[in-house]
Amino acid sequence: MLVLSSGPARTEELAGQLAQLLQPGDVITLEAPLGGGKTTFVRGLAAGLGVPEDEVSSPTFVIWQIYEGRLRLHHLDAYRLRSAEELEEIGLSEALGGQDVMVLEWPGVAEPLLPADRLQVRIEYGTGEEERTLELEGRGNWRPRLEQWKP
Ligand SMILES: Nc1ncnc2c1ncn2[C@@H]1O[C@H](COP(=O)(O)OP(=O)(O)OP(=O)(O)O)[C@@H](O)[C@H]1O
Ligand SMILES: [Mg+2]
Repeated sequence: MLVLSSGPARTEELAGQLAQLLQPGDVITLEAPLGGGKTTFVRGLAAGLGVPEDEVSSPTFVIWQIYEGRLRLHHLDAYRLRSAEELEEIGLSEALGGQDVMVLEWPGVAEPLLPADRLQVRIEYGTGEEERTLELEGRGNWRPRLEQWKP
């Protein structure tokens, strides 16, 4: 599914809508170029779960943040991690095995640890400065769940 975003507020709004679909144990992978809008998307997701917006930032040296909302939201940035083993060491599998929601930036290296059921989000730059395309793909049980969504 392709959705056009006209600006950061719209990206947050779309993510906020997706947050309403979230269930315990869900995994979202999030891919975008630098400055593409990953943090903006996570801010909307967190807001949709009832987390105060100003709690969501993207400090360079924090790779894993946890926000308390309707569901607990983990935001893990795997940009600097080099192997699935490193992700194991920091506890990714435990975090994925429970009731919390995980949103994972730069998921490539985590691929072997990820569940078959997941929502894949790819953000790309559009033509206008504030335009982005959000490409959403539901895998496993997320496929029918995503079909319920009318952005
Ligand atoms: N449609 C849009 N959706 C999201 N962000 C947008 C949009 N249009 C413009 N922006 C701007 O682009 C920037 C996106 O920054 P953001 O920190 O969310 O990206 P990021 O992918 O997390 O970056 P980084 O790779 O540095 O972590 C913000 O300044 C935001 O206001
Ligand atoms: Mg960011």
